[in-house]
Amino acid sequence: MEKICGACRVLIRNQLASSYVRAVIRSQHSGPSTFSLRTHSCGELRNSHVGKEVTLCGWIQHRRYDFMLTLRDSFGTTQVVLKEQIGKDVDNIRNLSAESVVMVTGKVQLRPDGLANKKMSTGDIEVVADQFEILNNSKESLPFEIHDFSKVKESTRMLYRYLDLRSTRMQHNMRQRSDVAMKMRHFLWKLHGFVEVETPTLFRRTPGGAREYLVPTRQPGKFYTLPQSPQQFKQLLMVGAIDRYFQIARCYRDEGSRSDRQPEFTQVDIEMSFINKEGIQALIEELLQYAWPDNLPSIHLPFPRMTYAQAMDQFGTDKPDTRFDMKLQDVTRELKDSGVAVFSSTEGNDAFVIKVFKCSKGMNYLKRKDYEDLQKEAVKLKDGGVTFIQIKDTDSWKSSISKHLRSEARENLGKAMKVNPGDVLCLAAGKPDSVNSLLGQMRLACANRLEANGASVRDHGSFHFLWVEDFPLFLPKEDGQDGELESSHHPFTAPVDEHKELIMTQPSQVHGQHYDLVLDGSEIAGGSIRIHDAKLQKHVLQNILNEDASSMQHLLEALESGCPPHGGIAIGFDRLIAILAGEPSIREVIAFPKTIDGNDLMSGAPSLLYNDELAVYHIRHDIRDATK
Ligand code: AMO
Repeated sequence: MEKICGACRVLIRNQLASSYVRAVIRSQHSGPSTFSLRTHSCGELRNSHVGKEVTLCGWIQHRRYDFMLTLRDSFGTTQVVLKEQIGKDVDNIRNLSAESVVMVTGKVQLRPDGLANKKMSTGDIEVVADQFEILNNSKESLPFEIHDFSKVKESTRMLYRYLDLRSTRMQHNMRQRSDVAMKMRHFLWKLHGFVEVETPTLFRRTPGGAREYLVPTRQPGKFYTLPQSPQQFKQLLMVGAIDRYFQIARCYRDEGSRSDRQPEFTQVDIEMSFINKEGIQALIEELLQYAWPDNLPSIHLPFPRMTYAQAMDQFGTDKPDTRFDMKLQDVTRELKDSGVAVFSSTEGNDAFVIKVFKCSKGMNYLKRKDYEDLQKEAVKLKDGGVTFIQIKDTDSWKSSISKHLRSEARENLGKAMKVNPGDVLCLAAGKPDSVNSLLGQMRLACANRLEANGASVRDHGSFHFLWVEDFPLFLPKEDGQDGELESSHHPFTAPVDEHKELIMTQPSQVHGQHYDLVLDGSEIAGGSIRIHDAKLQKHVLQNILNEDASSMQHLLEALESGCPPHGGIAIGFDRLIAILAGEPSIREVIAFPKTIDGNDLMSGAPSLLYNDELAVYHIRHDIRDATK
């Protein structure tokens, strides 16, 4: 890219150009070298630049002899040959370590005959430098080399994240993340009139949700909490007539890391007044399409929809991976009189199902060890685990239950599942919820095994979005007493219109106006239409969830002060970007992530504070616990 030419710079500086013309000029001149000491990036020079005087800045990838360098920056590498005139610096150059930062100025020339490197985008040329400046000397031996082929342990990468960020992989991920965020901002702000508002990150404890991080204060016994999301603030913004809000918001949840979870993470948080579920879904679909990276297969709207009940029934989860089939089927009727003890109900009929999924041609890929490992995994999830049946041919089924399985039941099952020789069935029996959950997890585990053994199971060539909706508003409280309920999304979600009466009498039967967006089996967004009636909100908090509504007085009062109907959604931005980048963990798309234990290996956070330092916060701890 060229630097901004003099004439255009004058136009911009003197504000003679309209903002549009300024934008056009900038876009024509923009690039990694604008406003920079360098004239070009290290990935930019081609035959057409031969004869030009250029300045490059970058890191030394290799040094060969005393006069040849490969210079690297975020955009590529360029070969640099140092001219004899700078031979006086030869000692400095000889002692230069890889990863030192230098600036060179010189002429672009074609590489000598036969020495072009076709694997390098700049491989036809080299820069013959007559000026050379060392901007920063790197230490001799760094913890790892910055090469695409270097295999470095994740903990080492996290310890030296500033080095890891130089890798092609992290450069791509960080830049893709920034591109998508910018396009989303543009879509929301410029095309649809959203206002970006920053909301506080020092907040107060509120009922429900994940565990919060506490921030001590100098006021005895008083703590802030870090918000799990800007949920209440965005609703208050609706009351405040900011009728289209968004924020790329930092959220904090003390719930233990996983590959798709971090203690601090980012949401694209959205709220709108005078909107319904369909309006929000359409907005999100168009937002994603607009921000979608050009290098990926395009996405098609509208996204398919599925009810929560259907998702649980067919996939055993509220975030179905629809890149492959292997759906769960109910075969309770077919196996009613099977002769197999584990398939006989000891409970009432409503509370007992037998379900199954089929791995077509699974026998070609699953070996004894695979069945053993899968069974072990299943037993950990539910007593008794699962039963595998290998369909050798129509009359020959290999399974721990084959001896007992009556031939009629076998025929019924075979017909219902349309089995063919080579297929594998995976069955489980028991209470519907636990069977669904077990088989849902086994469906994924089997797909992973099959793929690891060479089978083609998932469609990896395109992106599979799915809206899951029509959730129950409340679910039985995990580890709670019989009859205790918790919100399936959060306490601010409105019931569906048809259930406005039912919520007063039978809350467990009520459905909510809650929707989740699933991409390739991962929940990448969740939202709802909110309760905007103070009485109903108080009823939900106090009478259904048994929470202390006084901590929500600010919200309840706001709902009584002219609150428009409103709803919103939050996109889990790290999860979305990880999927776009094809990364197995969101840590790979976060510049400075935390470990599974919530530690920052690089800075050592969280760090130990001593009681004398804590005195101002009115906190004490036993140092022996802290240093264990
Ligand atoms: P929810 O809790 O469903 O909704 O969160 C929205 C999305 O955020 C992502 N997410 C996470 N990503 C990384 N690490 C985590 N620990 C983590 N937890 C959640 C998920 C999820 O779909 N305030 C509501 C939104 C609303 O109702 O508008 C909320 O936060 O991708």
